[in-house]
Amino acid sequence: MTRALPLRGTARRRRGRRSALAIALAAGLVIAPQAAAQAADHQITVHPDRDGPAIADNMYGVFYEDINRAADGGLYAELVQNRSFEYAPVDNPDYAPLTAWQPASSGGSAEVVDDAGRLNERNRNYLRLTADGPRGYGIANTGYNTGFSLREGAEYDFSVWARTDQPAGTPLTAVLRDPSGAPLSRPLELAVRADGWAKYTGTLTATKTSTRGRLEVSATGPATLGLDMISLFPRDTFKDRPNGLRQDLAEKIAALNPGFLRFPGGCLVNTGSHEAYEAPNWERKRSYQWKDTIGPVEQRATNANFWGYNQSYGLGYFEYFQFAEDVGAMPLPVVPALVTGCGENQATDDPQLLRRHIQDTLDLIEFANGPVTSTWGAKRAEMGHPEPFGLTHLAVGNEENLPDEFMERFAQFRDAVEAEHPDITVISNSGPDDSGQVFDRAWELNRQHGVEMVDEHYYNDPAWFLANNHRYDGYDRNGPQVFLGEYASEDNKFRNSLAEAAYMTGLERNADVVKLASYAPLLSNVDYVQWSPDMIWFDNARSWGSTSYATQKLFMNNVGDRVVPSTATEDETLRQVVTRDEATGELIVKVVNAGSAPARTHLDVGTEVDPVARVTTLRGDPEAENTATQRPIRPVESTFEGAAAEFDHTFPAHSITFMRLRPAQS
Ligand code: AHR
Repeated sequence: MTRALPLRGTARRRRGRRSALAIALAAGLVIAPQAAAQAADHQITVHPDRDGPAIADNMYGVFYEDINRAADGGLYAELVQNRSFEYAPVDNPDYAPLTAWQPASSGGSAEVVDDAGRLNERNRNYLRLTADGPRGYGIANTGYNTGFSLREGAEYDFSVWARTDQPAGTPLTAVLRDPSGAPLSRPLELAVRADGWAKYTGTLTATKTSTRGRLEVSATGPATLGLDMISLFPRDTFKDRPNGLRQDLAEKIAALNPGFLRFPGGCLVNTGSHEAYEAPNWERKRSYQWKDTIGPVEQRATNANFWGYNQSYGLGYFEYFQFAEDVGAMPLPVVPALVTGCGENQATDDPQLLRRHIQDTLDLIEFANGPVTSTWGAKRAEMGHPEPFGLTHLAVGNEENLPDEFMERFAQFRDAVEAEHPDITVISNSGPDDSGQVFDRAWELNRQHGVEMVDEHYYNDPAWFLANNHRYDGYDRNGPQVFLGEYASEDNKFRNSLAEAAYMTGLERNADVVKLASYAPLLSNVDYVQWSPDMIWFDNARSWGSTSYATQKLFMNNVGDRVVPSTATEDETLRQVVTRDEATGELIVKVVNAGSAPARTHLDVGTEVDPVARVTTLRGDPEAENTATQRPIRPVESTFEGAAAEFDHTFPAHSITFMRLRPAQS
């Protein structure tokens, strides 16, 4: 259980505290001061009279990529899988246009067609459903994971684009069922008219809670109908947005208090970018172009996502910007540099294609920031957001392995952006590794070109993170700043989080050069994993934070405003950093003990502080993992009653401790 005890200050109130203290001690929520005789093995000396680097409010953010079904089947709240019948073997050899759909009755037929009767040029496939007679014919969608997660009494918004060949119209029914066919809602009756494609909507209310729900859509014949964009959204989405986000996942991200949102990838951004710009979507273009992702959802083409599944773009650039705004994060989009990494390693030599993508980048800035009278600003306003989104940073490229080819093209993007938008920071990168030839050459070029900020990525084992705490101490303060856009130690156990936490103390100490940092990746559906470890896991009904989520959340909610210089008798398993919260004057002492022995430590904080300190601790078995049903690693809040200008404290084995020391009250 996580509980906070109130802080108390004055002597009079301390009398009251004693009885509270006794209760709290019994509950294990107060850490008793150590006996003075105990010799400390470690020393932390804080210099509150000196100023370390300022820490930007947005230093820690999140990196969102549509990997591991992070969007469709994840953050995007749509419950229907393959709603537009665009799945194809070219996206994934196991896919077909009727993937996730099943016949729900006999007495008719259903086939996916692409002909002149299509809904629109970008959404080409549709379902031709023939119902032979009054018994009707239907199909059912099985959703993701085990099916739709439905909550008794909750409302779900159904919609479908439809037309019929019957001049008098055709009855269409939507209903929720379980796999045995038992209803999970009352049927919704609609009447499809014959006058061409139209959108029909209605509400289904779940009569039972289930994680195995299906959506059945059936028509009464004789009739032949066209159906497309068969959709079901929970009414409750994050901030009640239509076409919105899954509440529990969005809330978990919001609870991180992210300073920025890097999106939409990752490898999916640049892979495929050398393909022809106009490649029709039935050829399954993999080039991620932001313009494909905005506007009415039924007009957004789908994409053969680099990670091996069809991507609907229902969660597109407008929704990303809006989500960033909703969670108070700086939006940080990544656009392709026309050089690909991620195993492709190709550089585009088509000047027209390059110009097109550079223009797209300028248009993206206009979409985010332009007035409603501009072409792209008007599209943002049409989508419901006349106010600018306030874009200040964007990244060109992701993990290119060809640094010279990359820099040649990056410079063209940057020059074009700077010419029109000198206030926008254009971020470059240094390839996929923490060191090596590509990394060194990329940094050399970034320096030569006076790049403002460089995106570094690395996924290493915990020992690397423990050993490299001082990586950024030696970075040139006059060179490019660092955006650590992707990092993680290679598993989801607590020992990985301990190593990451230890490393983050080094990031914070170097906040004058490491300006932004995000753990990666953010989301993973347990049944569709392409990449692990991940920060937040989920299935169709549940979501839970990994031990690294708990760690990131602790750091992200306790950044402080300025580093307070400190020295310590550190070793690879004991790392620390101290920051100051300017609003409260508190010193935030952050200590990571990744070792297997408790660390008896003498703290000299160099100033009088209130004896009562607020402490938040993550601790446990280094092999522990948070799962759907067990959260062995969760924050425990307590008070420490023995704080002073100098005091001893033992940091438990395998622990991350944040101690807030308040200035003494005069
Ligand atoms: O975070 C997963 C992948 O790791 C990203 O797509 C890529 O940038 C990196 O290689």
